[in-house]
Amino acid sequence: MVEGANGPRWIIEGGRPLSGAVDIGGGKNPALAVIAASLLCDEQVTIENLPYIEDARVMLELLECLGTKVSRCGRSAVIDPRTVCRCAPRRDLAQALRASSYLLGALLGRWGQAETPYPGGCDIGDRALDQHIKGMRALGAAVTDQYGVIRAKARRGDRLVGAEIYLDMVTVGGTINLLLASCRAKGQTLLFNAAKEPHVVEVANFLNSMGARIKGAGTDVIRVTGVDSLHGTSYAIIPDQIETGTMMIAAAATDGDVTIRGCIPTHMEALSAKLLEMGVRVDDHDDVIRVRSTGIRRALTLKTQVYPGFPTDLQQPMTAMLCAARGVSLVTETIFDSRFKHLRELARMGAKAQVMDRVAVIEGVPELTGASLTATDLRAGAALVVAGLMARGATEILNPHYIDRGYEYFAEKLNALGARIIKEDSREGQAEAGA
Ligand code: EPU
Repeated sequence: MVEGANGPRWIIEGGRPLSGAVDIGGGKNPALAVIAASLLCDEQVTIENLPYIEDARVMLELLECLGTKVSRCGRSAVIDPRTVCRCAPRRDLAQALRASSYLLGALLGRWGQAETPYPGGCDIGDRALDQHIKGMRALGAAVTDQYGVIRAKARRGDRLVGAEIYLDMVTVGGTINLLLASCRAKGQTLLFNAAKEPHVVEVANFLNSMGARIKGAGTDVIRVTGVDSLHGTSYAIIPDQIETGTMMIAAAATDGDVTIRGCIPTHMEALSAKLLEMGVRVDDHDDVIRVRSTGIRRALTLKTQVYPGFPTDLQQPMTAMLCAARGVSLVTETIFDSRFKHLRELARMGAKAQVMDRVAVIEGVPELTGASLTATDLRAGAALVVAGLMARGATEILNPHYIDRGYEYFAEKLNALGARIIKEDSREGQAEAGA
């Protein structure tokens, strides 16, 4: 992938209010975990409503390289793990995304051994795996963590043994990995201080649809009774919480009126509450949310938190909008230690923000002005797009491939709502306007 000045770029002509309706795709983070979880099955699995994103493609390829039969057709994938012949994922692919760490739990839980390189993913601060490893050790695995490779092996035969595990912090990935590792273990596992995020519940639901016995997902204590085998299933991924939220923010930021269809409003309550506080109108019913501008965008105090608090993955798009809110906003990022890099870029558009450690003080300006910006990670990319949509004039976004990792047809969906985003593949300028 060519990065930066010589690579692809998006050009956004700002200042156009979004209006109309948009459909939400399957969730990125739930899909990545469910794809990994399918390795635990003794039969064939069909996954529906997979999003068209780069990370899902890489995750499926990782499974194929382990020997899994994978056939993808549109939003469905049929995964047959019976032919798996390796327990060490391909290094370059594993290092492309954070969710490759789930292969550790899935392979260990199914075959009693796994060897994975440290996962990659967005550079948003320290992303340790100590809780994953601690939990796997408690389940009876010998785990070494040296030279960037984690090797884990069940001490007794090829099966782990249930245990009581107290997580020192709430970790989404750690909770999911330990569900994967323990669902076929001998006996019962109790997971204390578990994460409650929708994708934790999704993984438990998916595993239960194959015959696993997991209770309490969505609360902070999860009880897993290990089973001997898991049968085939057909399972549809829940809608993407963060795509939904990003669309809600984009609607509010452009003084628009957008109806978001096929989403889960209860997953969006923390964001909806903040938008209402800003003066934006938010209505929902069934699987639809409508976001309407009232012409007012007040500054806010905001703190990211574990679910059901305000999600860290929406902090970046939200702070982009706050750059042009009325008043001074105070944003505290409690989950990751380096998730304000986008604010440096937004300063080029006239945004006034000061970052001290994990707190950003944002003095709203009346208007942002188009500039050349570089995406540094997935949600930073989405934040720059939100800023570009709000700004006067044209904004250039370099490194847009970060956005493709996690948002399906993002430019195309926004263009269908009235945005004007042109995707350019090369400097020579083969322009392609999103439909
Ligand atoms: N942490 C540890 N030790 C561990 C695990 C986590 O110290 O063993 C720390 C991390 O360093 C971090 C915090 O705990 O500071 C939270 O990490 P968590 O494990 O909850 O996050 P994750 O599993 O690495 C997932 C999502 C992220 C999302 C976070 C929080 C996936 C693939 N990634 O990451 O999504 O921000 O949960 O909700 O599901 C994104 O989609 O853009 C994204 C970054």
